[in-house]
Amino acid sequence: MARELLLNAFAMNCAGHQSQGMWRHPRDKSENYKHTDHWVKLARTLERGKFDGLFLADVVGVYDVYGGSPDTALREAVQVPTNDPLLIIPPMADATEHLAFAVTVNLSHEAPLPFARRMSTLDHMTDGRIGWNIVTGYLDSGAKGAGKSEQVTHDTRYDIAEEFVTIQYDFWEGSWEDDAVRKNREEGVFTDPAKVHRVVHEGEYFHVNAVHLCEPSPQRTPVLYQAGASSKGTAFAARHAECVFVVGHSRPRLAESVANLRKLAVEAGRAPNDIKIFALTTVITGATDEDAQAKAEEYKEYLSSSGALALMAGWTGIDFSKPDRVGAAAAGSNSIQSAAAMFTQGGPSAHRDVDSIARSVALGGGGPVLIGSAKHIADELVSWAEECDLDGFNLAYAVMPETFEDVVDLVVPELQSRGSFKTEYAPGTYREKLFKRGPRLESNHPAARLRH
Ligand SMILES: Cc1cc2nc3c(=O)[nH]c(=O)nc-3n(C[C@H](O)[C@H](O)[C@H](O)COP(=O)(O)O)c2cc1C
Repeated sequence: MARELLLNAFAMNCAGHQSQGMWRHPRDKSENYKHTDHWVKLARTLERGKFDGLFLADVVGVYDVYGGSPDTALREAVQVPTNDPLLIIPPMADATEHLAFAVTVNLSHEAPLPFARRMSTLDHMTDGRIGWNIVTGYLDSGAKGAGKSEQVTHDTRYDIAEEFVTIQYDFWEGSWEDDAVRKNREEGVFTDPAKVHRVVHEGEYFHVNAVHLCEPSPQRTPVLYQAGASSKGTAFAARHAECVFVVGHSRPRLAESVANLRKLAVEAGRAPNDIKIFALTTVITGATDEDAQAKAEEYKEYLSSSGALALMAGWTGIDFSKPDRVGAAAAGSNSIQSAAAMFTQGGPSAHRDVDSIARSVALGGGGPVLIGSAKHIADELVSWAEECDLDGFNLAYAVMPETFEDVVDLVVPELQSRGSFKTEYAPGTYREKLFKRGPRLESNHPAARLRH
């Protein structure tokens, strides 16, 4: 039986997400990011194509590693200006019935209870179609904006995350029992106080003593995403993530990291398929292979090398305007270590050619760029998924919304005709749709032991 793929659209509430320079393309509409109807139209397009979710990236902080200044990022719209990702979700949810929203929130700048409440509110407002991409940040500029002098170190960020998510589970899963809300008009009892429990946490990084403010939402805990790929990041994902976002240009290496993640999940007491794994991919398609190639050539005219390098500098903590110092900077990275590792593997002289670095990420921000007719794209997606044991793809765009419209109109029907993509949505919450089981986290997940 064909593997049924999952598809997410990968976007961000900004004009220049992954493919730097493309905002200048005459058909690109990403500059409309600040208007509600831009997002509502996108959500409707994705639901027409039976996409599983819209994955929203978010970065708190400006990209100022390249040349030691934010000028390139500002001039070229490299993930700045950027608006809040949470606030665009309710109108999109209102305009759709099934599409899910996996939203990135950097926990390093959040207080436990206000964050728990925002996510519970979204779970209520979307009828259980919300996911949270757990990130800890990688830009010092973000930490400085949040009132700190710099980011805490990479591994400590994950230790803080461990504590933070445990408190969230306690709020979401443990604080209110299922039957706490009685809404008994005769007795005048909305909520039974005996069924609402205080979260008391005395940890290394947080001290919390509070009850959750929200009644239980459809999923309680949002579907948990994670994207870190350092050894600390992978161990965290294996314990907590229900969905993991991976990046790789090479099939054997991607297959290896997927196998490792599933093995670590088993060691953490979970099943290998308790984690759905999505690979970053960019698709450029057309009526024929030739049309798609012509479109890709046309797109490339607008790509910006300096924009791509400014983006990559922020991810890795390496200032690519000083090519001779790439190796040393990569070795000491306090940013995304898995991204920086690309520049230390293969010896100190590897990847010093900044033009090739820029080319490798300019379109889509990394991962394979698949160009061809729908048949070719479907062949590629299916074979990547088979060879690497992927559950699906997070599709970056080149031109917004053209890339997604092309996938919906051309690639989705091709995948459906092969039995590789659903023709109808499954009922229920995001978690029910993904795992074909209940709306709550599995009993083998660490959050489950905090239930009453
Ligand atoms: C594909 C991908 C997408 C990511 N998206 C975001 C994002 O939107 N916001 C963010 O702050 N971090 C993002 N990250 C950073 C990761 O969540 C994580 O914090 C980072 O990879 C550091 O982890 P590592 O050193 O374990 O790889 C992303 C990482 C990857 C690989």
